[in-house]
Parts: sequence; C-alpha cells; structure tokens
Amino acid sequence: MQEKINELLSEVEGFKAESKEQLEEFRIQILGSKGKIKGLFADFKNVPNEQKKEVGQLINTLKEKAQSKLDEFKGKLTAGENASAASDLDLTRTGTPVMLGSRHPISIVRNEIIDIFSRIGFTVSEGPEVEDDWHNFSALNFPPEHPARDMQDTFFVESDGEEEIALRTHTSSVQVRIMENSEPPIRTLSPGRVYRNEAISARAHCFFHQVEGLYIAENVSFADLKQTLMYFAKEMFGEETKIRLRPSYFPFTEPSAEMDVSCSVCNSKGCNVCKYTGYLEIMGCGMVDPNVLENCGIDSKKYTGFAFGMGVERIAMLKYKVNDLRLYSEGDVRFLDQFKAAF
Ligand code: PHE
Repeated sequence: MQEKINELLSEVEGFKAESKEQLEEFRIQILGSKGKIKGLFADFKNVPNEQKKEVGQLINTLKEKAQSKLDEFKGKLTAGENASAASDLDLTRTGTPVMLGSRHPISIVRNEIIDIFSRIGFTVSEGPEVEDDWHNFSALNFPPEHPARDMQDTFFVESDGEEEIALRTHTSSVQVRIMENSEPPIRTLSPGRVYRNEAISARAHCFFHQVEGLYIAENVSFADLKQTLMYFAKEMFGEETKIRLRPSYFPFTEPSAEMDVSCSVCNSKGCNVCKYTGYLEIMGCGMVDPNVLENCGIDSKKYTGFAFGMGVERIAMLKYKVNDLRLYSEGDVRFLDQFKAAF
C-alpha cells in the first residue's frame, strides 16, 4: 500500500501539463471521483490499524500535492492563453465604430430660425426660465386679474415674497429684460423653453420651445413687420410660400395678428395637415403696445417696434411632418436617429 502511494507521489511530482486537455486528464485520473486517490481511500479499510495513521497522512499529502499541481498548471495555462491573446492583438484592424449622437430636431429648427433672422441683423438674447410676475405678465400689459392671463395656463412656483413667481409662459419675458436694459435700436431674438399647464397630448405639451423676436427703432411700421415675416416664411418654407395675417389679440401688441403660411404639404390645395384651409398658423405678432415700451423705460413717442413669437415644435412639425408633439421630448433614439443627416 505504502509503495503504491509513493509511486503515485512521484508520478504526481513529475507531472507536467502542456495543454488543458492533459491537465483535465490528470485531474480525472488522480483526483476524480473514480480516480486513483479515491481508490486508495477505498483500500484504506484493509490497512492494519497500527499503520492507519501513517498511511492516512501519506494519502493526504498525496492529495494535497496533486491538488497544488493542478492549481499550478491551471494558472500557468490560462496565463499563457492571455499572453497569446495579447500578442494576437492586431493594431491595423479597423476599430469598433463609436456611436455618434446627433442634434435634436428642435435644436436644428431653432438654429435654422436664428440663422435666418441673424442674416438681417437680429442678435440672440436669453433669460431665466423661472420668472417673476413683472417680466412674464405685468410689464407686458397684463394687469392683475386681466382675463388674458388665462390664455397661458401658468405653473406658479411657491414664493415667499409679494410678487408671484412662475415658470415663464413665453419668452417675451426676455424681451422685457432687454428693453429695460438697452437703448433702441433693438433687434433681437429670444429662443428658449417655455411652460404651460396643459394636459399632454399629441397637440399640446406642458413645455415647448419658442423663438420670439423684437425690433424697436424710430419709424418702425406694420409694413416692416410684414416684410420681415414674409422674408422669414420664404427662407424657411420656400420661395413660393405665401403669408396671411389675421387680426388677433395680445395684451402687449396693438394691433395684433396671427400669421399663416401657405400649406407646403398640399401646395394650398387642402389636406388634413392644413385642415383643408390651404394655410397653417405659425406665429403671433404685432406692433409693441406703447404701454409696454413705457413700462420698460422706452420713450413711446420717439420709438415704435414690432414683435413676433413662434413655437419651434410647430415649425418642426411642418418641416418634418411629425404630428405628435410628445415624440420631441421622449428621447427615443429610433425617432432621433432619423435627424442624423439633417444638420
Ligand atoms: N408671446 C406670445 C405667445 O407666447 C407670442 C407673441 C409674441 C405674440 C410677440 C405677439 C407678439 O403666445
């Protein structure tokens, strides 16, 4: 018995594995559940009692040695594998493609609007999204309790002061800040996100984006407004685009109008996008009310001005024929991917 163990011991000590297969063979033969060591334990019951201690220790040593041999080669073989994998590295192979993001359709359209107006001298102004009552309403000729405040369902923010604080409902608030802080001539655009407390649907959302414009100088007339907007419509929707101005009401402009453009989907023949009218409403506009100029410290006897404001989502809807507003804010890459080539 002891001889047998010693033989096995030298077999184990002399063992060298050159492959994983050899090592596995070794494990099965020596340490496996039907292996040689298991066999020794089976024979152990025949060992005379006085030798049991010695033989038992010997078998255990054998087992330990076999296990450490196994571990040693396991380590060596896998290290070798990694080393050869590293040397297989082919530096000339083309890399894994990096997924590039793209501009959001709202940004693309906003930038296009800005670009069109910047060609005729408009600058860009920005302001806070959380506004006080004065800049969002009062300065713009919405007295307290005026029903026109209801035109824009407002999200109010809790405030500890006298004045109400709200999420701006339009970027006209930025124009108030500009008028308060600069001298005419003023020719600026205020793009930005605005908030209104509306139930979310395909046609309305609780936030959207606007680009509003303001021009104040001496002798600015309604004809200037009309010409400016016609230039914009043709640049944005094509040379053959026609515009139409319909009387409307805003507290901060007098007179006020809504501007429609001829429907580019059906060439004004009538389709479900323009609801068979041939025209699409795209913005509000008008001559800045003298009260607003005075509120902002501008001499309304000397200066006049026009203002306009449009929803970027609305323009994007017409441009890309995307009829569900919600798509613009869901961040679905399948939707966003389609605008990759667009900028
Ligand atoms: N501020 C208006 C709105 O949000 C748009 C507008 C701007 C209308 C300027 C007239 C003049 O609805």
